[in-house]
Amino acid sequence: MIALAASQKAFDICNLAPIVPVLVVEDPAHAAPLAGALVAGGLPALEVTLRTPAALEVISEMARVAGGVVGAGTLLTPDDVLAAKEAGAGFGVSPGATDRLLDACEANDLPLLPGAATASEAMLLLERGYSMLKFFPAEASGGAPALKAIGAPIPQIKFCPTGGVSMKNARDYLALPNVVCAGGSWVAPKDRMVAGDWEAIEALAREAAQLPR
Ligand code: 3PG
Repeated sequence: MIALAASQKAFDICNLAPIVPVLVVEDPAHAAPLAGALVAGGLPALEVTLRTPAALEVISEMARVAGGVVGAGTLLTPDDVLAAKEAGAGFGVSPGATDRLLDACEANDLPLLPGAATASEAMLLLERGYSMLKFFPAEASGGAPALKAIGAPIPQIKFCPTGGVSMKNARDYLALPNVVCAGGSWVAPKDRMVAGDWEAIEALAREAAQLPR
């Protein structure tokens, strides 16, 4: 898939809801009820980070949940791309971008939300056809004011800020014209997952889904 088409797909996925949950899941048994709760709460696009041994199995389980679009996060290498694709991921997310990673996503038809934190990083990705990016690490890179400033000269690049986003600051990002959605882990707290408290997670998702943008 060429980057332009892939980036349009990434935009469409980001546009589904104001928040993309960033999920760190240790137990594959949590995958189905977790995805079910988030989708029921109004957050269909889900990012499962490849940071736990269970992540690929979690992606496979979640890919079967009706109404969800499951992506693989923390893609760092071409091998990560192949594994994510094989597990059934519908999109990928990376904290930054390398030529090898972009090549692998394009060769394997995996729409990618590549990370950028500066104007130059964003411009390099735009040159290659990517106009829907992850702004990472969002808060540590200057937060909403920094992203607003990047948007002034390059408004055609749209972002999903991620990293330090919460209910406290999500509105500041979502109010920006160059923000489509934001990513965050707060909608799936580890203690609620371990407790199997899917109702609480659905309530957090519903609250996040109602954020204005
Ligand atoms: C991550 O890489 O874990 C994401 O950036 C999520 O960050 P958060 O936990 O601050 O939402």
